[in-house]
Amino acid sequence: MERTFVMLKPDAVKRRLVGEIIKRIEAKNLNIIALKMIHIDRKLAETHYGEHREKPFFKDLVDFVTSGPAVAMIVEGPNAISVVRTMMGATNPFNAAPGTIRGDFGLDLTQNLIHGSDSPQSAQRELALFFPEET
Ligand code: RTP
Ligand code: MG
Repeated sequence: MERTFVMLKPDAVKRRLVGEIIKRIEAKNLNIIALKMIHIDRKLAETHYGEHREKPFFKDLVDFVTSGPAVAMIVEGPNAISVVRTMMGATNPFNAAPGTIRGDFGLDLTQNLIHGSDSPQSAQRELALFFPEET
């Protein structure tokens, strides 16, 4: 069993796709261990995406994830980290395969609907950041 951090970004909430995305996670037989709606502040966003601090898109990324409420989740299952990343699809929705969340619903590199941890180290760090009470 493995745990990963999943965030449904503000565009998913605004576009009323939260139910659709959660439905896919549940249909895959992954377990949702914890879930909360949060309006991420700049400090939390900058810490979460700290690896991208020097990138040209950092400000747009932080502006976007702080632009409205998001949904944060702990998702658990066998190989949950890579299983969720596969379900998400490629970072740029232009390249994401049909059948993936970004492939089916996304058309913008910034507003790409969902975040999932990319490694066990990232999962541990991000879960501690968003769910300190659970870790
Ligand atoms: P995420 O962290 O949100 O799950 O996305 P990811 O792993 O698929 O992609 P990552 O490389 O971690 O990038 C984080 C977010 O930054 C935006 N981005 N913009 N303009 C650009 O070249 C660019 N590259 C990345 C995307 O919104 C991506 O989700
Ligand atoms: Mg990433």
